Amino acid sequence: MAGPRLGVNVDHVATLRQARGASYPDPVAAATLAELAGADQITVHLREDRRHIQDRDLEAMRRTVSTRLNLEMAATPGMVEIARAVRPDEVTLVPERRAELTTEGGLDVVRGREEIVRAVRALRDEGILVSLFIDPDRSQVEASRDVGAQVIEIHTGRYCEARPGGEQVRELARVAEAARAGTRLGLQVAAGHGLHYQNVGPVVEIPEIEELNIGHSIVARAVFVGLERAVREMKELLERGGP
Ligand code: PXP
Repeated sequence: MAGPRLGVNVDHVATLRQARGASYPDPVAAATLAELAGADQITVHLREDRRHIQDRDLEAMRRTVSTRLNLEMAATPGMVEIARAVRPDEVTLVPERRAELTTEGGLDVVRGREEIVRAVRALRDEGILVSLFIDPDRSQVEASRDVGAQVIEIHTGRYCEARPGGEQVRELARVAEAARAGTRLGLQVAAGHGLHYQNVGPVVEIPEIEELNIGHSIVARAVFVGLERAVREMKELLERGGP
């Protein structure tokens, strides 16, 4: 079994740089190293508050990334303009709240339908593949198909935060069920958020999930073992199907 593709999110390399307003470490260099180590895709989140990735990082990555570039962003007209100019291979629309530490929940495609339809159309017109980051909820999967997205990325945060045992099993089942629903509706299925070396295994086992986007745990491990080894180890887990 080949296992799901690995998208490496390098946002937190930029977090370290921004913490000091320094010029290093460079997330663009990190993206190149991640690709050399086996990443199938580079993922970055250009937040409206620019707390980590900056516009110039995104522009440089568009020139240097040789696999695929996946841009996570809010579904606002301003961000759509940036995506149209930079032309990533894929855009993942995510909800954004300024005070949050990280993307806390999935996009509410049911309630935010009008704004999301506009963004999806504008991006698809440019030939950009569009993914929606949603909670593992059937109504959100169906709404994603209805607004014209080609991909869903299922938010694994609740599975990752659940206590081992029944709660975790239930959250994993919700992820698997949403993945099956997505495939049945003709959507490509990705997943991510909060995944690390110990909890990724059961998610890898879900056959409908074709791609995982993983950031924090890889960058954190890179502090101790280097980025190439951290990426290689995660890639091996995806290929082997768990720890
Ligand atoms: N996928 C999406 C849509 C995200 O917003 C994030 C966090 O930016 C990730 C994946 C990666 O999450 P983590 O850093 O917890 O691995």
